[in-house]
Amino acid sequence: MPPLSATLFVPMNKRFYITTAIDYVNGQPHLGHAYEKIVADVIARSRRSLGQETFFLTGLDEHGQKVQQAAQAEGKSPQAYCDELAADWKAFAKKLELTNDDFVRTTDPRHKEFVQAILAKLHTAGHFYKASYTGFYSTKEETFLTEKDRRPDGTFDPSYGEVVELLEDNYYFKLKAHQQWLIDYLEKNPSFVQPDHRRNEVLGFLKNNELEDLCLSRPAARLNWGIPLPFDPNFVTYVWFDALVNYISIPAAHGDPILDLGSGVSVPGNGAQRAQPQTPDAKSQTRLWPADIHVVGKDIVKFHAVFWPIMLKAMGLPLPKQILVHGWWQKDGAKISKSTGNIVDPVAVIDEWGLDAFRFYVLRELDIGPDGNWTDAGFKSRYQAELANGLGNLVNRSLSMLKRYRNGVVPAKHDELAAAAAKAADETRALLKQNQLQATLQSIWGLVTRANQYVDQTKPFNLAKDPARAQRLDEVLYNLTETCRVLAVLLWSFLPGTAVKIYAQLGLTGAPDKLDAATWGGLPAGHKIGEPAPLFPRKEER
Ligand code: MSP
Repeated sequence: MPPLSATLFVPMNKRFYITTAIDYVNGQPHLGHAYEKIVADVIARSRRSLGQETFFLTGLDEHGQKVQQAAQAEGKSPQAYCDELAADWKAFAKKLELTNDDFVRTTDPRHKEFVQAILAKLHTAGHFYKASYTGFYSTKEETFLTEKDRRPDGTFDPSYGEVVELLEDNYYFKLKAHQQWLIDYLEKNPSFVQPDHRRNEVLGFLKNNELEDLCLSRPAARLNWGIPLPFDPNFVTYVWFDALVNYISIPAAHGDPILDLGSGVSVPGNGAQRAQPQTPDAKSQTRLWPADIHVVGKDIVKFHAVFWPIMLKAMGLPLPKQILVHGWWQKDGAKISKSTGNIVDPVAVIDEWGLDAFRFYVLRELDIGPDGNWTDAGFKSRYQAELANGLGNLVNRSLSMLKRYRNGVVPAKHDELAAAAAKAADETRALLKQNQLQATLQSIWGLVTRANQYVDQTKPFNLAKDPARAQRLDEVLYNLTETCRVLAVLLWSFLPGTAVKIYAQLGLTGAPDKLDAATWGGLPAGHKIGEPAPLFPRKEER
């Protein structure tokens, strides 16, 4: 059989697989980390809601010099130090109500063993070589500096800390050889890196620079908090060959047959592609790879769009379908920084305003791509206008009126707002398939605004005073109550807690977690709703 093009081979029953960057364990989670994870969570939820089996992976990057040093400074072993912090990061994922299916830690034995196995295979297949290097090394940044890093006076920026001249043997991955292949791949696959301007940046970089081979090791004498190279115990694996591999080590641990190192990943020699194994009981297997989306920040595009595809090619594995690159948050127009105190503490915001207010603000304020700017005034203004006065007010007055005027019993079906609801539902479906989260929220709020206008125009509180208009009041109340139900379904991926509350207030059980349920007319006449309660309490100005 001729080799299949690995990049085209995707099994039928593969799950939608989405990942985030894995965060460095040192330090506490901040707005940027929270944003990325929420973006991935909304995409994961929306795919499930569209009926796709989905797997969402997030986690922690735990090796490296900074962790080793921080642990030492606290008199702890690096593992104990990581274990403590990992508990905080996992609690943070819960706080954000992430629906991740697994949480990877790069110190997990399942990850370390996979990294070693893949390194051994790549080494045997001739993708690595050992070489000496002399250069200026910043201990603080754990990196060799180049001539480009020098200031005009020849010194290095004090932010690099102590810079020492170092002669070092290391292992290198033959990256250079695949440069033209990657350029061709990016040219042929415009959706591989999104948004477009990020793809253009990567292409520009590749066309104007010669790739350097990638150093994949550090001498264990200098850094021992890392995964030992299986073929040379004097070295540990350096950051990217450890961190990026999480995207495949965890699917492998879940039994993805494409990553079965026993029979599956047969690393070819330089440049070759390989055929994928087919097994008869394919239905029962967790098929995840290739990832559908890697969500990452703009600072790590090169690692994901240049190093990673070449690493995968060397492994003979298909490439992820998309690297989805988000921008960076600032606060009040300045860099988020712990040292200057310019931070947004997501936990404090969530404790004060609720998780859904936080999720709403970051998703509504910032599209996936550009940089964003957090301001407390902007946050409060969206809370007040769009959540409290918009969605909250609509749901509360609609259900309260049904309660007051009809004892909470849903009248006969009526279709005055059906077209507006169908438009929002159709747009939501289409936009979510394109990961256009901000645009989806704009569309959903179109329906919120339309329904609030409908209350103002039809004035049910006046209709209720006139017994001759009882029929009209029934119609209006049906339209409003059913719109609330549709909104709960459309909002599920974004504001899951709010969606569930709306459902409960409507007296419906379960979660509004399938977009098919957004079809108009789901509320049957005679159904009795539950108790209305404010979704977004108005806050006193302080
Ligand atoms: N450990 C690496 C990633 C390895 S992925 C195989 C790393 N970690 S990080 O903790 O520094 O960053 C994690 C993610 O958070 C990155 O995608 C990064 O872009 C994102 N952000 C960090 N600060 C951010 C903002 N201020 N705003 C938005 N996202 C930001 O890089």
